[in-house]
Amino acid sequence: MNDNELLKRANEVRKMSYSPYSKFAVGAALLCADGTVVTGVNIENAAYGPSICAERVALFKAISEGKRDFVKLAVTCDGDHCRPCGVCRQVMFEHAPDMEILMGNPDGEFVRTTVRELLPDGFSL
Ligand code: THU
Repeated sequence: MNDNELLKRANEVRKMSYSPYSKFAVGAALLCADGTVVTGVNIENAAYGPSICAERVALFKAISEGKRDFVKLAVTCDGDHCRPCGVCRQVMFEHAPDMEILMGNPDGEFVRTTVRELLPDGFSL
């Protein structure tokens, strides 16, 4: 699974986003160390607070399936490139501090970074 394929998976799954409030669809595709790809979308709620980002849905789905080692996560949304929020940065720091992140857009363009770059000196126990 190369970078362009992973970004394509993130862009394809965006259509499953449940985002009637923001109308801002986000897709994520997580490459696990076993070679599988787990996808996620943002899922919003009328009460706003219970909404969840695409990155966390992908990560939580994977963890709930027993996966623990993660290589790379592609996230895409409208705009120049999709930047994970602070909560997702902390969650990714917990489970995959050395993971690579591809921050992409619907045209397949992306910026490459890592969780540690996005959350320098992050909190852990
Ligand atoms: N969102 C994500 O799913 N991931 C990001 O990286 C940024 C923001 C979602 C949350 C909310 O449903 C919508 O995008 C607007 O903030």
